[in-house]
Amino acid sequence: MDSTPISRISNPSPYQLPQHVSNDRQRARQLTIAINKGRYPFAHDEGLDEERRLPAQLGPWPGASKLRRAMTKLVGILPPKELFVSELPPEVRFTGPKFFRHGTHAGSMKLRQAWVKLTNFAARTHSDASFERLLGTIPPPSVKNGWESDAVFARQRLAGVNPIAIRRCADNPGDALAKAADQVLIVRHRTTFKKAMKAGRVYMTEYPMLWDSPVQEHVRGNATLAAPTTLFYTGDDGVLMPLAIQLKPREIKDRNPVFTPLNRRWDWMMARGHVQASDSHYHESISHLLETHLVSEVFALATLRNLHPDHPLNQLMLPHFEHTLAINEQARKNLLAEHGEIAKSMAAKHTGNINLVRMTWASWKYQDHSLDTDLENRDVRDLPGYLYRDDATKVYKAIDEYARGILGIWYQTNEDILNDPELQTWAREVSNPSAGGIKGFPEKITTREQLFDIAANVIFRASAQHAAVNNGQFGAYGWVPNAPVAMYSALPDHAPEDDRPLFTKADYYKALPDRKRALGQTGMVWLLSEPTERSILRAGELMAFTKEHCFEAYQVVGQFRRQLRAISDGIDLRNDEIGFEYNYLKPQNIDHSISI
Ligand SMILES: [Fe+2]
Repeated sequence: MDSTPISRISNPSPYQLPQHVSNDRQRARQLTIAINKGRYPFAHDEGLDEERRLPAQLGPWPGASKLRRAMTKLVGILPPKELFVSELPPEVRFTGPKFFRHGTHAGSMKLRQAWVKLTNFAARTHSDASFERLLGTIPPPSVKNGWESDAVFARQRLAGVNPIAIRRCADNPGDALAKAADQVLIVRHRTTFKKAMKAGRVYMTEYPMLWDSPVQEHVRGNATLAAPTTLFYTGDDGVLMPLAIQLKPREIKDRNPVFTPLNRRWDWMMARGHVQASDSHYHESISHLLETHLVSEVFALATLRNLHPDHPLNQLMLPHFEHTLAINEQARKNLLAEHGEIAKSMAAKHTGNINLVRMTWASWKYQDHSLDTDLENRDVRDLPGYLYRDDATKVYKAIDEYARGILGIWYQTNEDILNDPELQTWAREVSNPSAGGIKGFPEKITTREQLFDIAANVIFRASAQHAAVNNGQFGAYGWVPNAPVAMYSALPDHAPEDDRPLFTKADYYKALPDRKRALGQTGMVWLLSEPTERSILRAGELMAFTKEHCFEAYQVVGQFRRQLRAISDGIDLRNDEIGFEYNYLKPQNIDHSISI
């Protein structure tokens, strides 16, 4: 006789926790799970552990003949089939419409670039007009107007493509930076560095890991990759402004000059250009690839392997992994490969960026990277004009309520959590160093609170956080003078003397990527700016949450969508008020999963 299933929902529904179904159904579920474990081996896509297969997986396209490699490089539009045929199980490959959209988007980029190559022979990119010609029929992003302003440069830390690098400067950043910042504050802001620090108004970005040899060794011959520290100040007007830039890590005292806005214009702009190129490496490798694409992949695999499709947590999370394995497979085969756009355009090429991922992953801990902890650790709760924080916090709250609302229907006590074998195996596998390998992730989930928190974090990362660091790529890098992904100019080893400039405007443009590299950069970000196909507004579409199966869940989904629409209206109003469009976290622009 059946053990008595205790239905926690109003209708008899197949979507139940495993401990609440009959023994027969439990056995059937276990069989499905065993089959799925074979179909989704972590080994297939393990891309995170520094000791395992990341370099090979992400490295040069394996086993390709010279002819194939040459064809791929030359033709581009007609890559060999191995590069786009998926080896994944059919249900996680691109759907037909997605494959078509992705293919036409990539194809249109290749065709546009082919046209530019045919009609524009000038190799040098020495002016705005030459960069505009390289975009061909694509309109330049709005940052083209105003990128030279320091306020726009600073605003890109708050509402740009990489809004998670800025943090409050709590300690003395070093005498050289402090002295230079002091001069700027006296001249431009009528205060001193000491007073500004005391008032908590100094912020900073820095990227010391870019100076490490596993990255620097891969920097292309004539390019440079700085590891800059930049100080910012926010005054009474609430506008963030840059104060000083030091291009090598702060500990280096020798030949490590500091640049400020008081320097001659293009000396300062050259320092800014290096900061943008360094930020692009941190952004693409860490903020974007590692912290959204690859971490979400671990949760996607653990879900597919351990949670039966009838499990409510599977139903809640699976839509947020749609196309994630497929886009990561494409990234490994193309974008991050030897023939890909990153190798063509970024200073540290694909290999240096992969090493950056590996180095960061070695010490990456789950508990340091929730939205709340991250904002706390960076001490940016009261940073004025921080639009990312404002919008992300609202979206997170809505996602949190949604996850709690849905899971609370099934998990009514902590016992429900402890007695769920599928959930516990899921957690063990995410944290297991030989499987998901996410450090700091609990091996055992013991309370409802803990699970609700994890679910909200996973959904937020796979949707909103990815949108925050993905959607603005063309907006920033599409205008190469604003944010080159490589600078072709040696790092200055002394400050300008006697008011004699080190660099002219012509030097700055000469230091920017040439035609081939610029086409690689704009092509890459055009490709990655494919418009959102299915936004988070469509969350909760799976069967388990229909009114036929669970009316309460259906209501939670409705409430979530209403909240998201209200957030969207609020963002529109705010944008009108401030006269600046920050739309990356507008719910209709948040893809429900990582699919590009
Ligand atoms: Fe992405």
